[in-house]
Parts: sequence; C-alpha cells; structure tokens
Amino acid sequence: MLTSGGDAPGTNACIRAVVRAALSSGYEVVGIRRGYAGLMDGEFEVLDGRFVGGIAHHGGTILKTARTERFKTEEGQKQALDNLEKHRIDVLVVLGGDGSLTGALRLHEAGFPVMGAPATIDNDVAFTDMAMGVDTAMNTALRAIDKIKDTASSHRRAFLVETMGRDSGYLALMVGMASAAEAIVIPEVPSTCEGILTSIKQAHQKGKAHFIAVIAEGADPDCRTLDEYLRERQDELGFGVRVSILGYIQRGGAPTAFDRLLGTRLGAAAVSQLAKGETGKMVGLIGSKIVATDLAEVVSTKRQVDLDLYNLAQMLETYPTT
Ligand code: ADP
Ligand code: F6P
Repeated sequence: MLTSGGDAPGTNACIRAVVRAALSSGYEVVGIRRGYAGLMDGEFEVLDGRFVGGIAHHGGTILKTARTERFKTEEGQKQALDNLEKHRIDVLVVLGGDGSLTGALRLHEAGFPVMGAPATIDNDVAFTDMAMGVDTAMNTALRAIDKIKDTASSHRRAFLVETMGRDSGYLALMVGMASAAEAIVIPEVPSTCEGILTSIKQAHQKGKAHFIAVIAEGADPDCRTLDEYLRERQDELGFGVRVSILGYIQRGGAPTAFDRLLGTRLGAAAVSQLAKGETGKMVGLIGSKIVATDLAEVVSTKRQVDLDLYNLAQMLETYPTT
C-alpha cells in the first residue's frame, strides 16, 4: 500500500483498515513510504496490526507522501514494477487524488493488479461523492471563516478568503454556502472584478456589517487580482479590503468523524474487492454505498461541481429588498 499526492485527513484511518482487513483475509501487508517515490526507490516495510494502532485520529499520512515527475516516465514505472516483483508484492493499494489514481492506472495497464481509493481535499475525483479529507478541510475552512467574520464585522471590512482546491471550486462553493458568504468565486463559473465590486457596493448600501468573498485558488479572477483591483477603487467601496489565504491549514488536523468512517469503509472495501479478484478499480462512496469503478473510467471523467448549489447560494444573497 502507498499514499501519494496531497495528504488528506482520514487517510490514516484508511491505512489502519487496509492493514487489519488484509491481515484478517490472510494477506501479508507491506507499506511503501513516500508514494511513488518510495516505490521507485524501494522503501518497503512489512506492516503489522500494531503498527497502525493509535493513528486513526491523526491527520497526514503515517506512510508519508510525495509528488514525483519521475514516475510519469516509462523508466520510472519500470523501476516501480521491478521493485514490486523483487519484493514479491501481489497487489497494490493506492490512496490519493486524481494524479495518484492515474499513476495506479498506468501500473494496471502494465499488468500489475491495483486498487485505488480517493484521498484529496479537492474533491475532484469522479465516481465518489466524497474523497477522504474533504469533510475535514471544509470544516477547518468554515471555522476559519467564522472567525474572520467576527473581525470583519467589527471593522466593517470586506474579506477576500482564498480556499484550496487546485482547479476545482468544490471546496470554495461548499464552504461559501455553509458560511453564508456574500460572494463565491470558482473556476467553473465566469466572474469579473467589476461584478464583485458591484456586489460589495450593494452590500454596503444594504447596511451589511461585512462582506465575505470565498475565492477558490484556481478561480479567474484569483484572489490577488481581485485584491489589487479593489484596492485601487477603495474610495468607492465603503468597506476596507483585506485578504486571508487559508492555505495548508485546510490539509491538516484531526479528521472529522465522517472522514474517519469514510477512510475505514474505503480501506476495508479495497481489500475485499482485491480478495474477490477485482483489480484496476477505485472504491468510492456513491450515495450511502461503497462502489468499485474502473480506474480508466474514473480518471477519464471530469467531476463537475453542482451548479444548482451555486445558483442557490447566489439567490440567497441577491433576494429583493423592500
Ligand atoms: P494527487 O494524487 O493529489 O492528484 P498529483 O496530481 O500531484 O496529486 O499526483 C501525485 C503523483 O501521482 C505525481 O507526483 C506522479 O508521481 C503521479 N502521477 C500523476 N499523474 C500521473 C500520470 N499521468 N502518469 C503517471 N503518474 C502520475
Ligand atoms: O491537491 C491538494 C492540494 O492541497 C491542492 O488543493 C493544492 O493546489 C495543492 O495540493 C498544493 O500542492 P503542494 O502541497 O504540492 O503545494
């Protein structure tokens, strides 16, 4: 088993479940450190049931993680396959985001049996309603915005709050809705600096004490561009403008109950799929069930954000005033 790409809370609960479910099914379990980098460099270690004791409540990944361009090359993948053979590994479980799952698909295409499980705070993996880590990241961001709102209201300020998510607006949209933000800016919906300026002015005229815009890191305009634009027009706004980049705090911290339960269920399901002889798949949460989908289908499908939710959030901010 290996963990790869951006770490995601809930992964340790998943590692525990994989190890103990595999031991219960009669497998020997080997952990590979630092994702595909460790796979190519031969960082293999036999794991026992005690090794994964007391870890489920911690964020991060006890197996460590990495991003490596080398694994994208044929040479890197050959090195990985040679090491798997050398260590007499029969099947590989990969926990990670869309990049890591694409890497797993490459091994499957080369004939090596793999099983993936989605772990990324971005929630940009198709064929799972939620990836491990998303719920914790949302709650971390939400608590941060609640705090920002206190100071924003005290000073009557507009805050541009940047959330993570790479090219996906999922985190910004959900956190924006949950925090009742005045504006949500995501890559999936066209926005303009002029439009945000107008919304800020209107909020000021309505007598609002603050204006919170939740901006996805991949949005256009991005947080920095909007900040520069608004500061040049400070006199028109009414509100003072401040920026808060939430950053890596969204990736760390104790996983929520949801992420621990999801990680546990996905880990156990990955093992039971392999025990049934299934390979080349990803286990995901669809509705209330854990469902396995071909990795080829998972990585070739772009996950969309729910634009109905975006429109709902908009409607609740632009209601008619009497
Ligand atoms: P995430 O898994 O969180 O999306 P990345 O996109 O950085 O994170 O992917 C993690 C790692 O997976 C990369 O550093 C690389 O080693 C591997 N990977 C990503 N894309 C591919 C690809 N197209 N082919 C092979 N390996 C890949
Ligand atoms: O994929 C998870 C994520 O946190 C993204 O939201 C973000 O764009 C990226 O990883 C940051 O990557 P790194 O940890 O390499 O700086």
